[in-house]
Amino acid sequence: MFKKVPGTKDILPGEIAWWLKIEESSRRIFSLYNYQEIRPPLIEDVGLFNRSLGESAEIVQKQMFLIRNNQDTYALRPEGTASIVRAYLENNLDKTNSFSKLYYTGAMFRLERPQKGRLRQFHHLGCEVIGSYQPQVDAEVISLGDRILKESGIKGYRIKINTLGCSQDKKELSSSLRKGLKDKLGQLCRECLVRYERNILRVLDCKNESCREVVRSLNLSSSHICKECADHFKQVREVLDSLKINYEVSPYLVRGLDYYTRTVFEFVHPDLGPQQDALGAGGRYDNLVKNLGGPEKGAVGFAFGLERLALIHQTPGHQDTGTPGNLVYIVTMGEAAKKEGTKLLDYLRLSGICADTDYEGRTLKGAMRLANDLKAKFVIIIGDDELKKNVVTLKNMSSGEQREVKSEDLLGELKC
Ligand code: HAM
Repeated sequence: MFKKVPGTKDILPGEIAWWLKIEESSRRIFSLYNYQEIRPPLIEDVGLFNRSLGESAEIVQKQMFLIRNNQDTYALRPEGTASIVRAYLENNLDKTNSFSKLYYTGAMFRLERPQKGRLRQFHHLGCEVIGSYQPQVDAEVISLGDRILKESGIKGYRIKINTLGCSQDKKELSSSLRKGLKDKLGQLCRECLVRYERNILRVLDCKNESCREVVRSLNLSSSHICKECADHFKQVREVLDSLKINYEVSPYLVRGLDYYTRTVFEFVHPDLGPQQDALGAGGRYDNLVKNLGGPEKGAVGFAFGLERLALIHQTPGHQDTGTPGNLVYIVTMGEAAKKEGTKLLDYLRLSGICADTDYEGRTLKGAMRLANDLKAKFVIIIGDDELKKNVVTLKNMSSGEQREVKSEDLLGELKC
């Protein structure tokens, strides 16, 4: 028997209700904030991600699913931001709608070592606001993420924020880090030794305790942040304060993608474990639109990992039947009743009533047991007696009440 590819997941009927609920409630919230949905393709030119995320980013180095086709190399998208900026530019949204508030949901692919909360195919629910440098927009995006988590019933998360400053500030921090770490390389983990060479800022948010110790010993200050960026961050915090959003400033939060400048943030949850505790993350990427060939446009966004939200939200073993709670189940006895049952099933469905039947010719007892397992609201029983009298027997499964109902009165009875 074939097995699923490691790091992928079947979302089973018993789990789907949660997925539909979070997607629906998020869509409603995005609309309230005046965001519009966008659906870019799942495959893109690999160069788009190399350019956007940075050649040294872990995703680009190790995690891209590549498809080669003659001269071209495509990548299964590892994230949405680069695709959305590409779509924004390619479809001239910068000209028709210079300030765009977009949201998206869909599968992302990263060739990771699978573990709890770390999959090779997972789903993002995210948004991107393109066309503004204003700190109010950073705060709007963070508060929107907070609202989505609150309305999904997720509790116990924290919001960490930081500013990376502009490109020049990032360069200054990199060079002072390089100087500070030079004599302490022996105390860094193997991954941080690679980061030291390729992506030194990532050493700052390494979860390894000995690397954290080294970072703390450097006593880094925020002196590399220029005045404009410091003011921008102050204003972001002021707006968050005025919106009563609980957050904490986390000076070592840097994020792994090259495109970020200024504000970065993460929604973290302790139940995800120390290694990958982010339910979602995002930040500002003021240089990306220009880097991809567009005009100068500030932008900011975030993405939640839906599988991680599901891990937090679903108590172990919690499964539902996947059947809507208003099912009407038809049980027939005998060939003539079966024919009537087939017509009634069609009629109920056409009338907007969720209905099903037993196709397997179970006994009355067996069919009633199945209806019970399916949590049917009503069972309709049709046998020879009912056919003769032109009625059906209607059983209310929660009260147990059972009575004969004329065919013409049936819809009214079911709808009440
Ligand atoms: P990211 O931090 O790489 O950011 O991913 C966002 C979220 O996706 C993570 O916080 C996590 O919840 C989830 N996630 C990431 N990788 C995996 C995985 N292998 N398995 C399961 N869940 C995962 C971005 O992708 C940025 N594009 C976010 C953004 C939008 N920044 C600005 N706009």
